[in-house]
Amino acid sequence: MAILIDETKRVLVQGITGREGQARTRLMLDYGTRIVGGVTPGKGGTRVLGVPVFDSCKDAVASLGPLDISVLFVPASVIKAAALDAIEAGVKLVVLVADRVPVWDAMEIAAAAKKHEARFVGPNTLGIASPGKGLVGMIGGRAESAREWFKAPLPPSRSGKGGGTGVGIISRSGGMSSSTAYYCGQAGVRISGIVHIGGDAVLGLRIPDVAAMFEQDPATDAIVVFGEIGGSQEEDFADMIRDGRVKKPVVAYIGGKAATSGTRFSHAGAIIEGNKGTHAGKVGALREAGAIVVESFGDLPAAVVGVLRRISSRSLMTEAERKAVWTTAITRIEPNKVAVRGRDIADLMGRITFGAAVYLILTGDEPTESVGRLMDAILVSSIDHGATPPSCLAARTVASTGASLSQSVAAGISSINRHHGGAIEDCARYLGALLASVGGDLAKLDDAASAEVARIKGSGDRISGFGHRVHTKDPRTIRLFELAAAAGLGEHSPHIAAARAVERAFAAIGKPLPINVDGAIGAILADLGIDPRVYNGIFMIARTPGLVSHVVEEQTREKPMRRIDPVNHAYDGPS
Ligand SMILES: CC(C)(COP(=O)(O)OP(=O)(O)OC[C@H]1O[C@@H](n2cnc3c(N)ncnc32)[C@H](O)[C@@H]1OP(=O)(O)O)[C@@H](O)C(=O)NCCC(=O)NCCS
Repeated sequence: MAILIDETKRVLVQGITGREGQARTRLMLDYGTRIVGGVTPGKGGTRVLGVPVFDSCKDAVASLGPLDISVLFVPASVIKAAALDAIEAGVKLVVLVADRVPVWDAMEIAAAAKKHEARFVGPNTLGIASPGKGLVGMIGGRAESAREWFKAPLPPSRSGKGGGTGVGIISRSGGMSSSTAYYCGQAGVRISGIVHIGGDAVLGLRIPDVAAMFEQDPATDAIVVFGEIGGSQEEDFADMIRDGRVKKPVVAYIGGKAATSGTRFSHAGAIIEGNKGTHAGKVGALREAGAIVVESFGDLPAAVVGVLRRISSRSLMTEAERKAVWTTAITRIEPNKVAVRGRDIADLMGRITFGAAVYLILTGDEPTESVGRLMDAILVSSIDHGATPPSCLAARTVASTGASLSQSVAAGISSINRHHGGAIEDCARYLGALLASVGGDLAKLDDAASAEVARIKGSGDRISGFGHRVHTKDPRTIRLFELAAAAGLGEHSPHIAAARAVERAFAAIGKPLPINVDGAIGAILADLGIDPRVYNGIFMIARTPGLVSHVVEEQTREKPMRRIDPVNHAYDGPS
C-alpha cells in the first residue's frame, strides 16, 4: 500500500516539452513512475522520450483512457488554464510544481477541484513520492539517488502478501522534505511516502489531509512532520491527534523558532497573524496532543528511531541493511535466523515439500498444498531420463576423465540448454503466442491450432513439446495432468487448453502427436504463472540428483577414459 502514488497510477505530465518537463520526465520514468502521456498545447502528435504528447488533457484522456495523476511543469502565468484542463478532463490528483502562482488563480483551481471531486498538491511543491513505487515532481533528483536516499519499505510477495512498512513524511518545505527522508534513511528508517504540500498560502492538500491518508495506510507506522510557523495546519493536525483521528505516533519539527516579529521567513504561507501560527503555539499544541516535537532538526531522526523501536516497527532497518550497497530479495540472514522469501526456514522444514520450496524460492510465494504437490511431481518426472540424454553422457564422459563430482555434474548441467530441456520454455512460449493470436479467447483456439498445424505440415517445422521418440502415451504426462487437475488447472486453463487444441488439430489430420512431458510441464508452469525464464532452471534442479547418481556410478563402476557407447547399454538395477 501507499498513499497518492504507486506503480499502478497512470501519470500525465503537462508542460512535458518544456525544459523542466522533459528533464523531470526522464527522471520520473527512470524511477519507475508510470508516465503514459504528456500535454503541451500545439505540440500534440509529437513524442518526448517515447511518451505521446497531446494538445490538451481532454485529448489525452480520449486517447489513453482515465488518468490518475497529472503533474504540471507549467509556469505560474499559465498554470490556471492547465490545471483546469486536467481537472475538467477527470484527472483526480493534480500536482502543481510552479512557484509564484497568484493566490486568486490557486483559489479558482481549488474551486474547480472541489466541483469535480479532484484533489491537488501545491502550488509550489517539490512533489510526492512513494519510495520503491513511484514519484512525481522534482523530488529525489536522479533515480539512483532517489533509490539510495529514500529507503523503501520491504515489498510484498508476488501475490501482494506481507510487505514491510515505513514512516510517512509531510513537509511544508521542499528541500527539507527530501532532507527529512534522507536523514531518516541514514538512521535506518524506511519511508512509506513523502509529500511536500507546498509553501503557499492557498494549498490543495494540507498537513491534516495527508496525515489522515497516512493514518489509513497499512504501510505507514508513524507520521513525521516538518512544520513551519504561520497558518494553522499544525494546530489542526494537533486537534486530529487529540480527538483520536490520528492514532499513529507523530514526530515533528517546527521551523522558524528564531524568526522575530517583522522577519520575512521562508514561504508565502508562513504568515503569523496576531498570536496564531507562532512557533511556541504550534509546538505546544502538538506536544499537548501527544506528539513528540524535537527542538532541533538534527534530533529528528533519532526521535523517529526511538518511536519505531517502541512499537517494534518493521520500518526499522537492521545494521546490515543500513550499510548495504546492494540488495537481494531472496533470503534474509540474521544471527540465529534464516528466512527464505520472508519465511522462517525452520518452519518450512518438514512442513512443505521440496517442490513447494522450489516454487517459493522462484516465485516468492508459498504454493497451496496441491500446487506444491504438482511442483514436486514436475521435479520427480524429470529426475532422470536414462543414460542417453546429452546431460548424462556429458557428465559420465567428464567423470571418466577423473574429474571431480562437481566438475562432472557441472558438465552435465552445462549441456542443459535450448535443445535439451529447452522444450519446456519453447512450448510454453509457443502456446502463449497461440493464445495471444486469438486474444485469449479459448473458443477460437481450435481454429487457430488447425491453421498452425496446416502451416507446419507444409513447412517441415516442428512444434516443441509435442510427440516423443519412444512414448506414444507418456505415463508422466498423464500423471502430471491428473495432478494439475487436482491443483485446479484443466481445460479451462489457457496454456493447457491451447495444448489440447494443438493435439486435436494433429489428430484431425490423422497424425496424432500428443503433448510430451516437456510440453506438459511448460503448459502447467505457464498456467501457474511462473516466469518462463526459470523453466530451464527447473529442469536443472530436477535433473541434478540423476546426474549425481550417474557420475558416482561412472566413477565407481567403470574404467577411466572409456569410450561411452550412447546406444548399446542395458539396465541392471532392481526390476
Ligand atoms: C514550472 C516551471 C518548472 C517551468 O519551468 P520551465 O520548464 O523552465 O518552463 P518552460 O517554458 O521551458 O516549459 C513550460 C512548458 O509548458 C507549456 N505549457 C504552457 N501552457 C500549457 C498548458 N496549458 N498545458 C501544458 N503545457 C503548457 C509551454 O508551452 C512550455 O513548453 P514548450 O517549451 O515546449 O513550449 C517553472 O516555471 C517554475 O515554477 N519553477 C520553480 C519550481 C519550484 O521551485 N517549485 C517549488 C519546489 S519546492
